[in-house]
Formats: sequence, C-alpha cells, structure tokens
Amino acid sequence: MTSETTENGAAPADATTGLTRRRALCGLLVVLAAPGALAACSSAGSPPEAPPGGTPVSQIPVGSGTVVQGPNGPVLLEQPTAGVIKAYDATCPHQGVTVDPPVDGTITCPGHGSQFDATTGALKKGPAATGLTPISTRVVNGAVQFA
Ligand code: FES
Repeated sequence: MTSETTENGAAPADATTGLTRRRALCGLLVVLAAPGALAACSSAGSPPEAPPGGTPVSQIPVGSGTVVQGPNGPVLLEQPTAGVIKAYDATCPHQGVTVDPPVDGTITCPGHGSQFDATTGALKKGPAATGLTPISTRVVNGAVQFA
C-alpha cells in the first residue's frame, strides 16, 4: 500500500493532500493556459455582494476603500476622508481587471499597472487610455447604496 490510499483503497480524505493536488492541477493549467479554468484557481474571485441595505460606511477604510459587487459589476467604494464617500466602476478601462483600493491617493490596476487618481478617478498612468467611471451613490442610515 502507498501513502496515497487508505486501507480500503480509497483516496485519503486529508485536506492537505487535496489542496496539494488542487495546487498541482492549477499549476498544470497555468502551464497549459486553459482558458476559463484558471478562474477556479484564483483566490481573489468576485468581490462580495453589497449588503441589501448598502455597505456600512464603517466598513470602508478611511484613506482607502473596498471593492463590492454593484448592480452592474464591481464597484470601488472609497472614503478619502472620514464621512466623504466616492465610488467608481472598479473595472479597469484597459482590459477589464478589477482595480485595487487606493493606497496613498492612487488606485492601481493589478493587471498591467495603470494608475488612477483616488480623488477624481482620472488616469495618472497607462496603459489604460481613460480614467475610472464615477458611480452614483447615496448614504442612507450610515450605509452606502447605489443611486
Ligand atoms: S487591465 Fe488594468 S492595466 Fe490592463
């Protein structure tokens, strides 16, 4: 008997072994560049859905932001200063990668490094050709809702 089977010949139920196999499969998929299959290997996935009553302002870091799933795709909710909320379509205008929350006043796309001004969404650095699209929001009972 090998270390890969149990006494009854079944595959081991050890989660560590399963993860190792999954990682190996994902690595193989990367090598083979199987379209669509890599999404299952990503740890990032889709952003969380905004709660039904809206995203609590208290859950949006001051000086940065968070990405939530909006009605038409990912939305970057920012709180540049306490109580000031801004929202942008988080889909990078270059090739559609979801941008990261701002750091030191700059929103960066992890796809190819485009940068946007956190205050205005304007393009700071390509390869994107345009800035981020503002999204209308309102704050109701301390939660950000899409207008
Ligand atoms: S997808 Fe954002 S820089 Fe390319």
